[in-house]
Amino acid sequence: MITLKNIIKYYDDHPAINGVSLNIPKGTIYGIIGESGAGKSTLLRCINRLEMPDSGQVSIDNQPIIHLKSSELRVLRKRIGMIFQHFNLLSRRNVYDNIALPLELMGQSSMDIKKRVEALLTMVDLTEKSKKYPHELSGGEKQRVGIARALVGSSDILLCDEATSSLDPNATRTILALLKKINEQLGITIVLITHEMDVARSICDHIAVMEKGYVVEHNQVDQIFLNPQHAFTQQLLRRTAKKANILKQSESMVSSGIQSLLYLTFSGETATLPIITMAARKFDVDFNILSGDLETIQKHSIGFLLVQFLGNDIKKEIVIDYFRNNQLKVEVI
Ligand SMILES: Nc1ncnc2c1ncn2[C@@H]1O[C@H](COP(=O)(O)OP(=O)(O)O)[C@@H](O)[C@H]1O
Ligand SMILES: [Mg+2]
Repeated sequence: MITLKNIIKYYDDHPAINGVSLNIPKGTIYGIIGESGAGKSTLLRCINRLEMPDSGQVSIDNQPIIHLKSSELRVLRKRIGMIFQHFNLLSRRNVYDNIALPLELMGQSSMDIKKRVEALLTMVDLTEKSKKYPHELSGGEKQRVGIARALVGSSDILLCDEATSSLDPNATRTILALLKKINEQLGITIVLITHEMDVARSICDHIAVMEKGYVVEHNQVDQIFLNPQHAFTQQLLRRTAKKANILKQSESMVSSGIQSLLYLTFSGETATLPIITMAARKFDVDFNILSGDLETIQKHSIGFLLVQFLGNDIKKEIVIDYFRNNQLKVEVI
């Protein structure tokens, strides 16, 4: 069991975590969901003490970890693996050597390392690719290396920070299935951060919803989806439902021959329409706006547009980069 009690964390004068308490039962998959900037990563990093809270306590199996000495912290961290959105693999090490790294740092013999790494390669189904380098792998494969590396030191807790956020839908499904398998077969407790409701719904047992440094509600996953209590959770759910609807419509557009559909999501300061107009002018291309929606809640605007890009493929890539550099999330349909 991981217990967070009244965690507060400030950066300069700005509170990132505003007094969060949570119980994460052993052996569960616990989702933390919220928008960018809500404080999810900071909270997660308090669990392995990459971040030191200003006040509050974190306990693992009833052992408080906030004031551990660095030698005790090293022991604790062997129990806790972590994976990231951008994988954080070492580009000059092949798959095998990336996975072996934590064991090398622990000073294990190469015989022991070999046995353990080979077992992990089998578990994540990458035996065939053990000599490949990160640049030779797909995103999903890189994340499988990340998972193997995170668990190679016999961790029983896995922290996942947006682990599927830069993967395509297929790779996302594969990674979520792998996490589920790890949880069920090895009993590993998984704390999973995501900004996508679908990801949380597909594998989590419990969900905590974070907004602006607060946990606004937490519950079993079915209750969160059937009976959301907080306005923010309700808004997240509405958006997910709308998106599913739009994606279904756009799939039928694609099958009837309409091409180059882009699904753009924006939030906060990004104003989408001016960016689209600017892109059209700057790159001499056109857009058909097919569908869109904007919601404002507590002065925070969130929305999406479905647009058809009219121009050649080279310009399409340039425009997609331009959108991404301007904080729009772009999904190509
Ligand atoms: N190392 C840091 N220094 C200063 N501010 C930070 C740092 N890390 C996070 N923050 C701020 O704390 C808030 C929460 O950030 P974060 O935990 O990364 O949120 P999330 O993971 O939900 O996107 C944000 O306002 C962010 O700008
Ligand atoms: Mg984050």
